[in-house]
Amino acid sequence: MMSLFCLGTMSRILGLCTIASLSILLLTLCPTGLALNCLECPWFSNVECGNKTTCPASKDACIRITTASGSYYNCWDFTKCDSQGLAEYFKLTNFNSTCCSNNLCNSGRTSLPVISVVLSLVAVVFMICR
Ligand SMILES: *[C@@H]1O[C@H](CO)[C@@H](O)[C@H](O)[C@H]1NC(C)=O
Ligand SMILES: *[C@@H]1O[C@H](CO)[C@@H](O)[C@H](O)[C@H]1NC(C)=O
Repeated sequence: MMSLFCLGTMSRILGLCTIASLSILLLTLCPTGLALNCLECPWFSNVECGNKTTCPASKDACIRITTASGSYYNCWDFTKCDSQGLAEYFKLTNFNSTCCSNNLCNSGRTSLPVISVVLSLVAVVFMICR
């Protein structure tokens, strides 16, 4: 009787955990649905970039490039995010770049904390579910 009850509870908890992990995984993998929105501002607009654009299907990332003299925001191709390629493309030597694939994730500091929160949630769920 007791062991049956425990088994039932166990599998219910396991089931809940599986559902929780799966939904968090899905949220992590597909946070945006189909069309990606990115901030889009031309080079060296030192003002805060407030322009949003919906990316064409061929662009699956948002990019932000920061140099000492300003920043560039646009939709981008995730396969073209390596810094060496970017350096050649934009003829830059000293810059920082960010590629990401959540809506408006090239807006600045918001993307990293969100990702780490999601990652730690996933970690916690997996630890609880083991
Ligand atoms: C927003 O986009 C328009 C049209 O592309 C452009 O003319 C304007 O300079 C942009 N604004 C900023 C702040 O970059
Ligand atoms: C790039 O990032 C590093 C570390 O955050 C910073 O020290 C450096 O000044 C940045 N370089 C540019 C060109 O923004």
